[in-house]
Amino acid sequence: MKTNPLKKVPCANITIFGAKGDLTNRKLIPALYNLFIENHLPPAFAIYCVDAIQIDEAQFKDELLAGVNSFSRNGAANPVQWKDFAARLVYLQGDFLKEETYLGLKAKMESFDKEHSIRATRMYYFATAPRFIEVIADGLSKYKLATKQLLDRIVVEKPFGTDLETARKLNRYLTKRFAEKQIYRIDHYLGKETVQNILAFRFANYVFEPLWNRKFIDHIQISLAEEVGVGKRGGYYDSAGALRDMIQNHLLQLVCVIGMECPKEYEAEHIRDAKTRVMKSVKLYSPEQVFKDVVRGQYTEGDINGVERPGYREEPQVASGSDTETYVAAKMFIDNERWRGVPFFLRTGKSLPRQSSVIVIQFKDSPHRIFKDDIVPNRLIISIQPELEISLLFESKIPGLEMKLFPVEMDFMYQDAYTGNVPEAYEALLLDVLEGDATLFMRADQVEAAWKVVMPVLDAWKKYPSKKLHFYKSGTWGPVAADALLKPFAKEWFRLPERNNHHE
Ligand code: BG6
Repeated sequence: MKTNPLKKVPCANITIFGAKGDLTNRKLIPALYNLFIENHLPPAFAIYCVDAIQIDEAQFKDELLAGVNSFSRNGAANPVQWKDFAARLVYLQGDFLKEETYLGLKAKMESFDKEHSIRATRMYYFATAPRFIEVIADGLSKYKLATKQLLDRIVVEKPFGTDLETARKLNRYLTKRFAEKQIYRIDHYLGKETVQNILAFRFANYVFEPLWNRKFIDHIQISLAEEVGVGKRGGYYDSAGALRDMIQNHLLQLVCVIGMECPKEYEAEHIRDAKTRVMKSVKLYSPEQVFKDVVRGQYTEGDINGVERPGYREEPQVASGSDTETYVAAKMFIDNERWRGVPFFLRTGKSLPRQSSVIVIQFKDSPHRIFKDDIVPNRLIISIQPELEISLLFESKIPGLEMKLFPVEMDFMYQDAYTGNVPEAYEALLLDVLEGDATLFMRADQVEAAWKVVMPVLDAWKKYPSKKLHFYKSGTWGPVAADALLKPFAKEWFRLPERNNHHE
């Protein structure tokens, strides 16, 4: 988090559209509450929670408190602090399509401004189903709720479009109503502490930079494994799939962070330029390559840690014969001077044995051949979650009278190096929006460049919906077909921390 006290805003009007949704309850309110108790929110602020559902305000606040108690990194709320926080919460029942919703909200904000004798910063968070993005954007613009470019911001959640064309259309729609600098397209992976640290690691430590290229790096693996299945989100997920849900955004953003050149300055536009250049250099798949270089899978019934899990097709709101992928593994290349010929292997899946997000930088074999033992090449492991850790694998002599080698690890663990728990991604991101810092948000061209990368895959899969859809049992690490993808570069996928590890 980059809180600069000089940037701290004095007053804020925060609006959440879709206040009765899961995101508000699990992420946004716990994040705002934690910012509040740790003194990061402005001295004066109000949070307007807008939704179409009729609910008594006291009951609504009780639901939010239950959300904080269950999901906040700080555990259950302190009653005194919660009372203070809850006094700033206002529930506004309103239809996103109706004029009175916007006029009612506007009146509230204007009276807040009057009371504090200042025009407060306004943040509008779209925590709604995607079909409401345009509706709300139009309402805000038509009823003039976001007229100040320097103070008023909208936050748009993913999915940002469903393909390149719809993303472009949405960008056009939004940029007709707001300046680009008012639009914060969120990808919560970029707010994760461990992901932010990658830039510090790469560009504040000169020792790695000379090695960070095709001369020394053999390949890179990025794995975002999830233990959860689709749960109650089948309705959304069945028309999205893992490629749209995880690869187009989170995985490709990690590729950018790992692959980018050092920006001229630690400043939003320079950083976003550098990342966009990476996306634009990704080698696009030909239709034939898609079925060779991208593996898709879907989970079937199984068990995870002794708990039985349904197959994807049996999940609520999923079509019975659905071909939607819940697992993707892909090989991709970045066609530039730094990375030409170095494969990036990406994989993500649901209903895997364990949650684990890890980036592995695999260095090349040592050219020296003076030892009898097989040398294990160096490997840098960046653990994003749930372990927060960076470790470097290197060869060492086993103590004793013979020259025998063994690979050992040098570890940096957050819990040993720092006290306190680290802020949640949404805390960092919400604060950035309030402070007008777009560094960790996606610009229009970045989103479109990422869609461009996945479009050949979407097109090929659309044409052949069930071709090479590999099934994997819940509780396994995904389809065996993903192993073949690595050849001839790597022997196997990095073994994620595990409780069991067998294939379908
Ligand atoms: C969301 C996806 O963007 O990211 C979910 O829609 C996924 O399907 C989630 O579960 C993963 O986020 P995290 O922070 O739990 O790794």
